[in-house]
Amino acid sequence: MKETLVTVGLDERSYPIHIQPGLLQDIGKDLAENKLANRYCIISDDQVSRLYGEVLMDSLLSAGISAELITFPSGEKSKHLQTMASLASELARLGFDRKDALIAFGGGVTGDITGFLASIYMRGIPFVQIPTTLLSQVDSSVGGKTGVDIPEGKNLVGTFYQPKAVYIDTEVLQTLPLEELQGGLAEVIKYGVIYDKDFFTFLENNRQKIFALDEPVLVSLIARCCEIKAEVVEQDEREGGLRRILNFGHTIGHAVEAASEFSLIHGFAVGIGMCAAARLAVKNGCLAEQAADAIERIVQSYGLPINIPTELDRSEMRAFLLRDKKTVGGKVFYVLPEAIGRVRITDQVDSAHVDQVLANN
Ligand code: GLY
Repeated sequence: MKETLVTVGLDERSYPIHIQPGLLQDIGKDLAENKLANRYCIISDDQVSRLYGEVLMDSLLSAGISAELITFPSGEKSKHLQTMASLASELARLGFDRKDALIAFGGGVTGDITGFLASIYMRGIPFVQIPTTLLSQVDSSVGGKTGVDIPEGKNLVGTFYQPKAVYIDTEVLQTLPLEELQGGLAEVIKYGVIYDKDFFTFLENNRQKIFALDEPVLVSLIARCCEIKAEVVEQDEREGGLRRILNFGHTIGHAVEAASEFSLIHGFAVGIGMCAAARLAVKNGCLAEQAADAIERIVQSYGLPINIPTELDRSEMRAFLLRDKKTVGGKVFYVLPEAIGRVRITDQVDSAHVDQVLANN
């Protein structure tokens, strides 16, 4: 299958997103042609490196590229400043300098850590993204958000720093656990609701092929998500306005995720958050009931939960909403759908309606 290419247009910081099944084997060739760096350090977690480290390393070495591989334990618990410090020390010990580059090889945690490290190591060196989960392929590897968690909250320390290229191999999704695939699909549904009614319809009609990991369907799905993300980021790289639409489902979703002490996976919380935002939009008078039903139906049809688990503490969620990064001056901003394919950002929401939605009413 031929490569599909999407571009993120940010003037001199523009970069390509290459999408193709089996791409992993060809990345070395492309990097060698583009001469981005003298030497590369692949940063990956232990699981991804066990599954695919050798394939990527072979691809680089056979293209004459000199590379090292550093791994860290997989999972969100690695996404902190101590991991950054030990990776930076390792890079320094290996003699990496400003002529070298990093490769983020893994899911969102790996991309966020590696991008952050690239943005501050020697005051900034280039990096490329090779995302291996659906969520990182359609969202976190594109757009330049990097960062780590601190005890006070997730992603509270980080930078905006764009990669030089993104390489998406759809074949690696074959080994992704089903739950993680579904979690990524919540973000995919998000793009349909916020930006593209036709894409929403495509998702309604192609569920079976998507779960069967049909390559052409996956490639066009990922490409459409990347195109939408690119269009949004090109207009608002630093989330001053439009980019906030990407937070649809994440306001109540994050509160649900935090109240579950992160036992609920991110995409599942986003699925719940999207349904909650749709119900809030109906109460707010900006969305037709039928459209909210269509959002709930599609979320449910992808095997994602639509209601906030009853055992989760509602007052904790209310407190979290007020502390959230997206809250400005004590005002909670919600991204509310106005129709499938269009949203508005507003703080004009009745708190009684929020309480009803938190009660799954
Ligand atoms: N994941 C949302 C964003 O990149 O803005």
